[in-house]
Amino acid sequence: MIMILTNLSKCVNFQIKTFKGSSIKILRRITSLSSSTVIVATEPFLVRTNSNGNIIDIRKRISSLEKPFKIEFTSPSFQMRLKQAKKELAVRAIGKADLIIDLTAGLGRDSMMFAGSGKHVIMVEESIILAGLLNSALQDFERKFGSNDVHRRVKLVEGNAAHCCHQIRELIDEVGTLKQSVSVYLDPMYPENPHTRKSLVKKETQWLHLLAKQYNMEGEEENNATLFKIAKLFATDRIVAKRSISAPYLMKNIEPHASVYGRTQRFDIYLVNQLKD
Ligand SMILES: C[S@@+](CC[C@H](N)C(=O)[O-])C[C@H]1O[C@@H](n2cnc3c(N)ncnc32)[C@H](O)[C@@H]1O
Repeated sequence: MIMILTNLSKCVNFQIKTFKGSSIKILRRITSLSSSTVIVATEPFLVRTNSNGNIIDIRKRISSLEKPFKIEFTSPSFQMRLKQAKKELAVRAIGKADLIIDLTAGLGRDSMMFAGSGKHVIMVEESIILAGLLNSALQDFERKFGSNDVHRRVKLVEGNAAHCCHQIRELIDEVGTLKQSVSVYLDPMYPENPHTRKSLVKKETQWLHLLAKQYNMEGEEENNATLFKIAKLFATDRIVAKRSISAPYLMKNIEPHASVYGRTQRFDIYLVNQLKD
């Protein structure tokens, strides 16, 4: 559950009950967020929205020292990557399909690379905060690079993939590539390596782990199986699963037909016409 609080500018000292029943005390006058709506999500997060209710950024506490987190597709380094999107391993692994359905959009980096390489993309993301941040990032992109049509090829669906099949089908029809080839991309969360020092993990990855639903091992297997099943429903060309280099296959008993290897990651390719039912 998420609480939405408005007119925070008037609050100098208040308590917010979070869904876990504990409370966060905010003792500061909130100046930088004064005209915004603030959503308080699971305990420590403060989500800033604009007047339309679109999520702008997120932070752990209201402090002028903490840089809020947002998804950005407009930075010069990301633009550079976009220009060379065809060289990305994910793009090479996904092959020639006209439309890519990314059922696990996350921070949208892989999806944007697909769009940068000229493909239509449907992104699906179950975390409402991540989906909100993705939406804002796409709007920022449009504002800054209106003439560039990358963002026009991207559609975003908010929700668990298992509950969005109807919406996905409608978007496929809208894109009009139903008779052409569709590939599905899967990059579900794998648990954080407890031995990796936090300081070495990129800030955006830390946020991803905080905002995405954490599945236990059983839940993860079940989620992977559901994602694979949905992928088979829509893919006409291939399904690509991104894994950490030493991770097991997405589906224990289904071997991929090929893999593309990076330094730390692996992209397992399943050819739809060679998959058994
Ligand atoms: C590792 S991240 C993906 C990162 C992404 N490839 C990128 O380039 O930023 C996995 C994301 O998939 C989402 N996810 C996992 N299972 C999902 C499901 N069944 N439906 C929709 N989203 C899901 C999680 O919320 C998380 O944000």
